[in-house]
Amino acid sequence: MGSLFCSQKKIGMNNFIPVNTPLLSGNELKYVSECINTGWISSEGPFITEFERKFSEYVERKFGIAVSNGSAALDIAVKALGIGPGDEVIMPTFTIISPAQSIVISGATPVLVDSCLDTWNMDVSLIEAKITKNTKAILVVHIYGLPVDMDPILELCRIHNLLLIEDAAEMHGQTYNGRPCGSFGDISIFSFYPNKHITTGEGGMIVCNSEIIAEKCKKYRNLAFDPNGRRFVHDEIGWNYRMTNLQAALGLAQLENIDKHITRKREIGRIYNNGLLSLIGFKKPLEKTSYAENIYWVYGLIAENEESLNSVVKKLAINQIGTRPFFWCMHEQPVFKKMGFFLDEKYPNAERLARCGFYLPSGLGLQNDEINYIIDQINSY
Ligand SMILES: Cc1ncc(COP(=O)(O)O)c(C=O)c1O
Repeated sequence: MGSLFCSQKKIGMNNFIPVNTPLLSGNELKYVSECINTGWISSEGPFITEFERKFSEYVERKFGIAVSNGSAALDIAVKALGIGPGDEVIMPTFTIISPAQSIVISGATPVLVDSCLDTWNMDVSLIEAKITKNTKAILVVHIYGLPVDMDPILELCRIHNLLLIEDAAEMHGQTYNGRPCGSFGDISIFSFYPNKHITTGEGGMIVCNSEIIAEKCKKYRNLAFDPNGRRFVHDEIGWNYRMTNLQAALGLAQLENIDKHITRKREIGRIYNNGLLSLIGFKKPLEKTSYAENIYWVYGLIAENEESLNSVVKKLAINQIGTRPFFWCMHEQPVFKKMGFFLDEKYPNAERLARCGFYLPSGLGLQNDEINYIIDQINSY
């Protein structure tokens, strides 16, 4: 299936439209040059603390801990909250593997929930039935552009005394009832991969309000060096998940333009929505819910069936348009089956999204004439 989808610019295909191109139109070069000129290229430079301060402020959190990527942020989040063997963490089956693997690596068990077919997020009405005496946390993942319905989840966490991890990797600048995504979790995380609303090349951020948790996260990103003890003596295991000053320099420049980026993302979504108004046989993204307006991290479509998906993706590829399939469900991951997880579990909505969903070029570098060309190709399908 993967071979049908293209995302990279291919050599000799000058007009190929990849699924993502980042936009680096601000102070990126200036700030990165400053790193080179001053020699601050490791994780010790001044851009790190500045980026952490400004980003955490942007999402209304007290602490920001910059790390090497979003997956690393999840590993740290799970460990810093003390989740481990014997614990269960409730999460959506329809997501990238990063949150599930962080839970599995910790020795805890992911407990899965099906998705809503309209928002593509986890169906919060199914969570309570999954809570057991071993449930330690709920891990929410905001998918593709609309946030998870947070109020019922916050209520469940309160009633059952559960921790909340918020994967806001795709959700910079999005809000839930006016409150920033990334401001809800005991720990919330972001990714800065180049397809995100702001990028550091590779990178991630943990945000939280507790100083104790923030200190743990800082420790675990840095090989669990003890900030108060003798150097090279460790009482715990951590990782080298540090971000470099070069990456933070990029991030700071990107953050200066985040509002412009969000506006453009919504504009791209609107152009697709209007252009594909009379498209039949494909379900388009929901424009808004009662609590949020879609931010269109990616512009996805759901085909009626797999044949229809394969044939449109093939047609788009022939016409130099990159696409990418939706996530593949956690309960259908061969690696987890081999480990004995999720045997015989079925989640029909998530399976439908995974089998029939794909997304169109949606990056910030996309030009309007390219979007119109893509729309024409789909409408002539
Ligand atoms: C929801 C979600 N969580 C986690 C990640 C992992 O982030 P990274 O690629 O920075 O490791 C991604 C990546 O796109 C994601 O979409």
